[in-house]
Formats: sequence, C-alpha cells, structure tokens
Amino acid sequence: MQALILAGGKGTRLRPLTVYTPKPIVPVVNRPFLLYQIETLRNAGVTDITLSLSYQPDKIEHLLGNGSEFGVNLRYITEPSPMGTGGAYKFASDSLRETTVVFNGDILANLDLSRVIEFHEANKADATLTLVPVEDVSRYGVSEVDKTGRIVRFVEKPQGDELADLKVNTINAGIYILEPSILDMIAKDANRSFEYDVFPDILKRELPFYGYVMKDEYWLDIGTPANYLRAHHDFLAGKITGFEIETDAVSDIATKAEIDKRSVVGDDCTIKSGARILNSVIGPGVYIDEKATIENSVIWSHTRVSTAAEIRGAIIGRSCHIGRNATVGEGTVLGDKTTLTDYTKA
Ligand code: GDD
Ligand code: MG
Repeated sequence: MQALILAGGKGTRLRPLTVYTPKPIVPVVNRPFLLYQIETLRNAGVTDITLSLSYQPDKIEHLLGNGSEFGVNLRYITEPSPMGTGGAYKFASDSLRETTVVFNGDILANLDLSRVIEFHEANKADATLTLVPVEDVSRYGVSEVDKTGRIVRFVEKPQGDELADLKVNTINAGIYILEPSILDMIAKDANRSFEYDVFPDILKRELPFYGYVMKDEYWLDIGTPANYLRAHHDFLAGKITGFEIETDAVSDIATKAEIDKRSVVGDDCTIKSGARILNSVIGPGVYIDEKATIENSVIWSHTRVSTAAEIRGAIIGRSCHIGRNATVGEGTVLGDKTTLTDYTKA
C-alpha cells in the first residue's frame, strides 16, 4: 500500500496566511499540518508516501526532507502547472504501482485508516471514498451510498436545484483508496479533476465504487481561516485525540503571567509579567510584553506583542509587530510581518 498526498493547491482561501507558507505546512498547534496526515498514514502501516506539489514546493521539501525523521519515506513530485486533483494522481503514476491511499492535503481527521482499507478489501472495490456527515453540504462533494455501501451518486459543490434535490448529508471527506485500474481511466498530461471527471466516470462505468461513512471520528477541512482557527480550539478543548501534541516547550515565563491550562506555548518565548494567555496557541520565539492579553487566538513564530495589547479570536502571522495598547478583534487574520502602530484597532 502506498499513499499520495495532494498538496498542490494555492490555498487561496487561507490568504494571507498562505502567501509565504503553503497550506500543507501551515502550523497547526505548532506542527506543520502535513505531519498529522503522515501520522495517520504511519499508524495504518503506510510509510511509502508521495507528496504531489505545485505551489511553493521547495518550502515543503525543505521542511519535511526524506521523511526519516517522521518514520516514513517521502517522495516529491512537482507538476509544471497545476493539473487538477485527478491529473496530479495520473502525473504521479510512475511511482504508484499498488493500491494507493489518496489524501486531500488539508483534511484533519482522527481516522483509523486501517478500517477503511479493510472495508475496501472486503468489498473488492476499485475505489473507496471516505464520507462524513456535515450540516452544510454545498461547499463539498456530496455522495450518496446504497444499503450495501455502494456509491450511487456524486455531485461536487451542488448549487440551486441540484442542491435542493439531494436528500443526503454525507460528503466526500477527501480520503480515497484507489486501485491502479483507476489510473488507467485517466488521460495522461491533461487537467483532470477527481470530483468533476474521475468519480462521475467510475459511476458511469459501474465499477465497484464504495463509500466508508465516518461516524464518531473528528473531521475538518482546515482550508479557511475560520476552520483553521476552529481546528486549534478543538485541539485545545481535547476534541481531537490520537495525535502527538508538544506541550513541554521551554520558555521564559514571568511568575506573574497567566497562562490557562488549555493554551500551548512554543519554545523560546518570552512572556512578561501580567500578560494573560487564554485558550490560545503561541508559536516559538514569540515575545509577549507586560499586561498584554491573548485570548482564543493563534500566533505564529517570532511575533512581538507589545505592552497592554489585546488580541481576541484572531490569527497573527509570523514576525508581526503588534504595538502597545493595540486591539485586534474577532476574525482578524494578519499576514506575516504585519506591523500595527500603537493604539491601532484592527
Ligand atoms: N497536486 C495538486 N494539483 N494538488 C491539487 C490541485 C492540483 O492541481 N488542485 C487541488 N489540489 C489539492 C489541494 O492542495 C488540496 O489539498 C486538495 O487537492 C483539495 O483541493 P481543495 O481546493 O482544498 O478542494 P475543496 O476543499 O474545495 O474540495 C475538496 O475537498 C472537499 C473536502 O474538504 C473536494 O475533494 C470535495 O469533494 C471534498 O468534499
Ligand atoms: Mg479543501
């Protein structure tokens, strides 16, 4: 069994966070996001992993290397220009000779992948999609299964009448198990989408196509600022289990600083007297000055928060400078190196 992680999207919905950091490696609780997916694959015994890249590939390769540090073997394939999700799979075909687990590179799930693999094998499927129930299906690929688990319908981002017609709330969770026979269906050197081209084609050909429906597992697409922040809050609230989280960082914290039990502070931070950190994640090398308050927020590495500044419900990029008494409110997302003058209200 091999794996392919689709990590070539531009991450436009996560801008400005993805201007200098490609989405697959944005830090989630201070770890590059892809490490969570790598952990899920490794736990199921899948260690031969190809990363399909297109946007800022060097940054990803530089950070993750050959994977030995994480107990896996990583390979990189970069498309000359984005070929779509199915096209990227075909483009990687020289290194995919076995049954392959395909991951969308922005899915956070505490899934026991070995169960999906067993389900796929028991059904002798050519393709198995992992599905998950959600409230608003319109932003996703909606998929309907029959009583035997066979997929009978797949509609990507349904709108209008199509949306009204759908009676199911199960969507494509972005984790597939595919046999090499699926590769043979996809045209070479062409832009192809799994969602708009390949899955409808599998249905048309009536191949064994199954849906594994997740039930109690955690699932989230981290590809928007709101969801990215939510992933952090869910980690801090203990809703996402089964992953390694680093909590024993070494930092210089004043005795009169208040850091609640939920919050995570990275290495080499300085936190001064009277500062308050509540339900937040602070990246490595951050400096938080006296009486500053940080609540329900995520702060990336090497940012400086000056005296009495207040940050609530926000995401602050790398190496920012938040001036004295500045207030940063709900939903604000600051790109790397932003400087806020003293007393700014953002
Ligand atoms: N290599 C490569 N090349 N990767 C790509 C390309 C490409 O041309 N286009 C997209 N990707 C990667 C993205 O980086 C991302 O990890 C993944 O493919 C999915 O793309 P998104 O842009 O995040 O798609 P989406 O979130 O709108 O929808 C997809 O995910 C939903 C679940 O979150 C679809 O698969 C939906 O059906 C699904 O429900
Ligand atoms: Mg997505």
